[in-house]
Amino acid sequence: MLKEEDYFAHHVTEPFRFGERRRERGFWRAFLESFAYLPPFNRMFGKVSPSYAESYWYCMGGLTFFSFLLLLVTGLILTFFGPTWWSGTHAGIVMKSMHYWSAQAFFFFLFLHIIRVWLTGAYRGKRWVNYAIGFVTFFLSLGENLFGLLARGDWESQFVSMHSDDMLFTAPFLRLISPENFTSALIIHVALIPFVLVVLIGVHVTLVKLQGIARPL
Ligand code: HEM
Repeated sequence: MLKEEDYFAHHVTEPFRFGERRRERGFWRAFLESFAYLPPFNRMFGKVSPSYAESYWYCMGGLTFFSFLLLLVTGLILTFFGPTWWSGTHAGIVMKSMHYWSAQAFFFFLFLHIIRVWLTGAYRGKRWVNYAIGFVTFFLSLGENLFGLLARGDWESQFVSMHSDDMLFTAPFLRLISPENFTSALIIHVALIPFVLVVLIGVHVTLVKLQGIARPL
């Protein structure tokens, strides 16, 4: 029989026996959980999650992270082969679609993650720093999304760049970047913002690892 402190214990390193877990949580849950005890998965997590984090809501940050990795990999491939490839070949169009849908998944999971963080009050105490980092990451991601759309090069993209150009040129300080300049939109989208995002998301996830998961309100 598992004691309550076993669920909360961050120091647990020995796996609970399968039969014991099956009695506690049913066959399928115990079976799926077993993967966390097998190499290479067991070395990926130094800790056992506390019981209050055993909910799909707490997976949303991880799924956002996973979508971000997909965005990086597909984005690197697209950049490597270039615009003629991604809009003119079957493989290129498939890769472009994967990049597009990864972005949809990224924002979908990100919204659910933010809702989870609000509802569990996970921004309390020292975690405000990580909340602030997440906040900046969110707005940068919106910018990344806009420049991605500008870099796509199709009709919709040209339409949006024309309109954002009109808007930006009425603002005093933003004239340095013209959204109609494909090269600058591409560089901002594939190099500048992604670099900052990689650093911010890296720090965000490392802080979660160091601070642990907050108890819900
Ligand atoms: C690129 C975007 C983001 C990624 C990849 C990401 C990833 C993660 C991951 C993996 C966790 C661990 C717990 C969980 O999954 O629920 C987490 C926790 C957290 N995130 Fe994010 N996050 C992102 C954006 C944000 C945003 C926009 C905010 C808030 C404005 C935020 C605030 C927090 C806070 C406060 C925690 C600590 C939660 C706790 O201790 O319970 N994150 N994040």
